Amino acid sequence: MTPTDAKRPLQLNDQGQLRHFLSLDGLPRELLSELLETADSFLEVGARAVKKVPLLRGKTVCNVFFENSTRTRTTFELAAQRLSADVITLNVSTSSTSKGETLFDTLRNLEAMAADMFVVRHADSGAAHFIAEHVCPNVAVINGGDGRHGHPTQGMLDMLTIKRHKGGFENLSVAIVGDILHSRVARSDMLALKTLGCQDIRVIAPKTLLPVGIEQYGVRVFHNLAEGLKDVDVVIMLRLQKERMQGGLLPSEGEFYRLYGLTEQRLALAKPDAIVMHPGPINRGVEIESAVADGASR
Ligand code: CP
Repeated sequence: MTPTDAKRPLQLNDQGQLRHFLSLDGLPRELLSELLETADSFLEVGARAVKKVPLLRGKTVCNVFFENSTRTRTTFELAAQRLSADVITLNVSTSSTSKGETLFDTLRNLEAMAADMFVVRHADSGAAHFIAEHVCPNVAVINGGDGRHGHPTQGMLDMLTIKRHKGGFENLSVAIVGDILHSRVARSDMLALKTLGCQDIRVIAPKTLLPVGIEQYGVRVFHNLAEGLKDVDVVIMLRLQKERMQGGLLPSEGEFYRLYGLTEQRLALAKPDAIVMHPGPINRGVEIESAVADGASR
C-alpha cells in the first residue's frame, strides 16, 4: 500500500468517485455540486404518472436499520423502488440479530443473496464505516445515520432544499438551533455548508448542548436565540435527543422552549423570506411552535 493509498478515504475510488457514502467530511465541492445537480434532475420523476426509471434495474438494495427511523427508511425504500431496484428492508428488532446472530453473520447472509448495496442506520458512531471496511468488494454502503457522527444523505437533502429555495450558498446566513451536541444532522449540515461556500454558519444553543471544538467547523456560536437569528436566510431547527442524553443537560423542556423555542415572534428576527427547516421528528412546543412548524416558511 502506498502512502497515497493509505490516505485515500475509504468512500472514494481511484477516480475520486463515491465507492461508499459514509460522511461528508473531506468530500470536494465539485462532488457535492454534482450530487445536487443529479438529485435535482431526478425530482421530476416523482411527479410522473409512472414514477419509475430503470437506473438500478437488476440491482438489490438492502436497508439494514439497527435504530428507529421513519423518514430515512421509507424514503430509501421508495427511492430504490423508483430507480427499479429490488429492495429488502430488514427491521433488526424482528430479524435474527435479536436471536443472537452477529452483525457480520447477518451481513454475510445478505451478501449471499447477491445484495449490491447496504443502507445502514446504527446508534453507534462509525458503524457504517466499520461495515464498509468488511463488506465484499462489489457491495456499496450508504450511511443512513450513525450515532452522533453523520447523516450524509440528510445533509445533502438539506443542501438541495436550500439551493432550490435560495439559489446558492455563498451569500447566505444559516442558523442551526438546538441540540447540536447529539445531532449527526448538524455535523453533516455544517460540513456541507462550509464545503459549498456558505460564509455565515451560526449555531445557537446552550453551552451544555454544544460539542467541544465546535469552532473547528468554521461556525459562529451564539447562546442567545434572538442575537443568532438576526437577519438569517435559513433556520434549521433540531429536536432534543433525550435518548442520547446522560444526566441533566437542561433544567427542563419548558425552560429550553422559553430560551430556544422557535416562535413566530422570534422568527420575525430572521429575514422576511427566511425558510425554516427541520430533519424531523419534530417535537412541537419543545423546540418549535406549531404555528411555525405548519406555517408558510417551513
Ligand atoms: N431525518 C431523519 O433521519 O429522520 P428518521 O430518524 O425518521 O429517519
